[in-house]
Amino acid sequence: MNRPPQYGDFQYEIYLDGLKGIAPRYPVDFASLEEKAHAVMPWWVRNYVAAGCGNEHTQRANVEAFNRWGLVPRMFNGSYERDLSVSLFGVNLPSPIFMSPIGVIGLCSQDFHGDLRVAEAAAATGVPMMTSTLSMDPMEEIAQHLGQTPGFFQLYTPGDRDLAESLINRAQGAGFKAIALTLDTWVTGWRPRDLNYASFPQLRGYCLSNYFTDPYFRKRLEKSPEEDPAAAAREWMKVFGNSLTWDDLKWIREVSHVPLIAKGICHPEDARKAIDLGVDAIYCSNHGGRQANGGLSALEMLGGVVEAADGVPVLFDSGVRNGSDVVKALALGATAVGIGRPYAYALAVGGTDGVIQQLRSILAEADLLMAVDGYPTIADLRKGGLIKAV
Ligand code: FNR
Repeated sequence: MNRPPQYGDFQYEIYLDGLKGIAPRYPVDFASLEEKAHAVMPWWVRNYVAAGCGNEHTQRANVEAFNRWGLVPRMFNGSYERDLSVSLFGVNLPSPIFMSPIGVIGLCSQDFHGDLRVAEAAAATGVPMMTSTLSMDPMEEIAQHLGQTPGFFQLYTPGDRDLAESLINRAQGAGFKAIALTLDTWVTGWRPRDLNYASFPQLRGYCLSNYFTDPYFRKRLEKSPEEDPAAAAREWMKVFGNSLTWDDLKWIREVSHVPLIAKGICHPEDARKAIDLGVDAIYCSNHGGRQANGGLSALEMLGGVVEAADGVPVLFDSGVRNGSDVVKALALGATAVGIGRPYAYALAVGGTDGVIQQLRSILAEADLLMAVDGYPTIADLRKGGLIKAV
């Protein structure tokens, strides 16, 4: 059997480079990366990425929740080699992380083709990208940059069913291995950082390429998006939102031929019902606190969702900032853990290379925590190694 990747070895590469006088080009930790990114991003992109809902309490709670959990070190159990591989609805992944969908990721790289740059980082690292419906480049082009790494497509289900089915068919045709339905964003949450400057990138025509290239969207327009982009953006606003019902889920299940992931599920009953209606994975997330300033962190809701899912894979994100957070979410039962803002900031600072370095850093920290604390596999982590400290 092949030896699984030992992600922690990345630190030797860094230290050995140091002997030649070479330091990492970008910070390996989130706080320094965020600071650098905020200095280089255009103000309206920076605000959009940093923004949370209301006074951003939930956004902060997501991050702080991780501090209340700690791993108990175990010794004498031979964690010299670790195995972080996971399997999701038949897709085998070398590591348990993926890149969460970020609608404006296209704008986070200096060339405004961030979706392609992130796809290249996915190809280089084996870390899947979940590409958003809101991208600067159409999904078919993004798929071509993913190499051998599986890609997932995130769907904002439009109000127009023909358009929704067209987006699903295009994603399947482009080779995406699963479709994630985002349930918590049929309307945008109240985000003062954007509202104070009246700035919403999509209404300026950014990140709408999947719509502008879609025959069913174009049918709705009097003039093409090339002739009248402002009218096309206004039409997008009309068609974007769809507050889905359980009956809609049955319809989407029927028209989708790849595994379906329900994103934004935080209540155990919703998890159970979605699984009963044929969903293949639950994605426990509160959208990074951007949508509802409801108070609870996503991490607090993970345990209940995992229990209700009863063995069906549970993806998790919201507040994950480093490798230790990844390990804690895995120990609480997440099958795979989504990285959000850290890769957006890495992209702003270092393009494809920046994302690769950040993903490798997160994986190295996770792997080394498991090595030092004596948990060689994810199954070992789940045998009660994590305790609530406060
Ligand atoms: C998002 N997120 C998101 N989710 C989704 O399903 N479709 C999308 O297009 C977007 N767009 C988006 C833009 C930006 C700027 C951010 C920060 C987030 C939510 C994302 O998938 C994930 O749930 C959060 O990023 C997790 O929170 P943290 O860990 O990044 O704080």
